Amino acid sequence: MHICVVGTGYVGLVTGACLADFGINVTCVDKDEEKIAKLLDGEIPIYEPGLDSLVEKNARSGRLHFSTDLAPAIQQALAIFIAVGTPPKEDGSADLSYVVQVAEAIADNLNGYKVVVTKSTVPIGTGQLIEKIITERESEAHPFSVVSNPEFLREGSAIADFMRPDRVVIGARDAQAVAIMKDIYSPLYLLETPFVITNVESSELIKYASNAFLATKITFINEVAELCDRLGADVHHVSRGMGLDKRIGPKFLHPGPGYGGSCFPKDTQAMSEIARKAGRPFEIVDTVIEVNNRIKERAVERVQEAIGEDFNGKTVAVLGLSFKPETDDMRDSSSIPLVTALVEGGAKVKAFDPVAMDNARGMLPEAVQYCEDSYDAAEGADAMIIVTEWNQFRSLDMERVRSSLKQPVVIDLRNLYDPKRMKDQGFRYSSVGRAAEDLPGE
Ligand code: UDX
Ligand code: UDX
Repeated sequence: MHICVVGTGYVGLVTGACLADFGINVTCVDKDEEKIAKLLDGEIPIYEPGLDSLVEKNARSGRLHFSTDLAPAIQQALAIFIAVGTPPKEDGSADLSYVVQVAEAIADNLNGYKVVVTKSTVPIGTGQLIEKIITERESEAHPFSVVSNPEFLREGSAIADFMRPDRVVIGARDAQAVAIMKDIYSPLYLLETPFVITNVESSELIKYASNAFLATKITFINEVAELCDRLGADVHHVSRGMGLDKRIGPKFLHPGPGYGGSCFPKDTQAMSEIARKAGRPFEIVDTVIEVNNRIKERAVERVQEAIGEDFNGKTVAVLGLSFKPETDDMRDSSSIPLVTALVEGGAKVKAFDPVAMDNARGMLPEAVQYCEDSYDAAEGADAMIIVTEWNQFRSLDMERVRSSLKQPVVIDLRNLYDPKRMKDQGFRYSSVGRAAEDLPGE
C-alpha cells in the first residue's frame, strides 16, 4: 500500500515515519524545499527523541520517501494524510488555508478511489469543506472518502504516543474507508488498541474536546496552587490526594507557569471560536484561556516579589526556554512573556536551554544573552528562574549556583527543588503553591 503524508512538521514527520515502520510505503511531501533537502540528507529538522533513527531505518529500507512534488505522491497513494499546520488566525480561529491548498491539489490529481485523511487538528466541519472542494473541483467524478484521524501526540514522546496510543479515533462516512484505515493501523488493531469508529464531526470534536479538557485540568491545578500559596497548603500533597481518585487521575495535575505549546493555546482558541460560531459559547474554555494568560503574568509578579518591582539594573538568569522539556519547540512557551517582561522592565536576561536557544533567538527580545550552561547563566545574576523542567535542571550543584549568583535568589516555577533544603542551603527560594511550613515527615 502507498500512502502520502502532506506536511513534515512535528505531526507529519512522526506520522510518516511510524506508518512506514508499520510496513507501509510512505511518501512525505512538504512545500518547504529546505526541510525536504535536509530530510533527504538524513537530517531531521526538528528535535524529537528517537525520530532520527526511525526515519533513517525506514528510509534505508526503501519504505519512507521525501519529496516536494505533491502531484505524483497523490496519484500513487491510496490514502493521503493531511498534516499541514493549522495555526491560529487573529480572531483565534484555525487558519485552514494550507488544508484547502492540499484539498485542491488532491482534486487535481484524483486518478481513482482515495481516502483523504485529516491528521492535523481541524475545526469541526473541515471534513465537509474538503469534500465540497474536491467534489466541485475534480475534473472527473472519481470516488473518494474523507476521514478524520486526529493525532494525540505529545512532543517529546510523539513516537511512543503513536506506537502505543490510548486509542485510535476514526471519523468516516462509509465502511470502505473504515476498512482501509483499519488496514493501515492493523499493527495497532492486532495489539488490541481501542478504536473509536464514529462520524467525521464527532472525531473532529474528540480532538478539540480532549485538548481543551487537558488544558482545563492544568489550569485547575494552577489555580489550586495559587490558593495553596494563600492558605499555607502544599499543592503537591493536594494534587496527590486528588489524583489518587481514579475518576480524577494523577496526570496533568502539575502546577507551573501556564501551559504553552503548538496545541493547547491554539486548540482552546479554536474550540472557543467554534462554539461561538455555533451560537453556544464554551464558557469553561473561555475562562481557561483567560486564567492561563493570568498565570503566565503571575510568573512576572513572582520575580518582582523576589527581587523588587523595578528590574532596572538587575541581571536575571532564566533556565529553560522551550514550552516543555524534550523539545526545541518555542511556540507559545511561557518563557516568552516572562523574558519579554523582564527585558522591557530593564533587566539583563542571561538564558540557557539545552536545545531551544536557536528557535528562541527569533522569538525573544534581541537583548537576551544566550549562555553555555546553567552556571554560566547564573554567573553574576541577582536571581535564577527555572521555567522549563529539563532533567538536567533537577540536580544542579547548588553550592556552585549560590557562589555564581550575586544574590542567593531562586524562583522555581516548576517546583524542582525542596523549599526547606533550599532555605537550609542559604537561598531565598520561592516556588508555586508550596507555602506549607509545617508538613509532618512522611
Ligand atoms: C500542526 C499543529 O501544530 C497541530 O496541532 C496539528 O494537529 C497539525 O499541524 P505540526 O506538525 O507541528 O502540527 O505543524 P508544523 O510544525 O506547522 O508543520 C507543518 C508542515 O507542513 C510544515 O513543514 C510546512 O512547511 C508544511 N506545509 C504547510 C506544507 O507542506 N504544505 C502546506 O500547504 C502548508
Ligand atoms: C498536547 C497533548 O498532550 C497531546 O495529546 C496533543 O496531541 C497535543 O497537545 P503537547 O502540546 O506536545 O501535547 O505537550 P503536553 O505534554 O501536553 O504539555 C502541554 C503544556 O502543558 C506544556 O506547556 C506543559 O508544560 C504544560 N503542562 C502539562 C503543565 O503545565 N502541567 C502538566 O501537568 C502537564
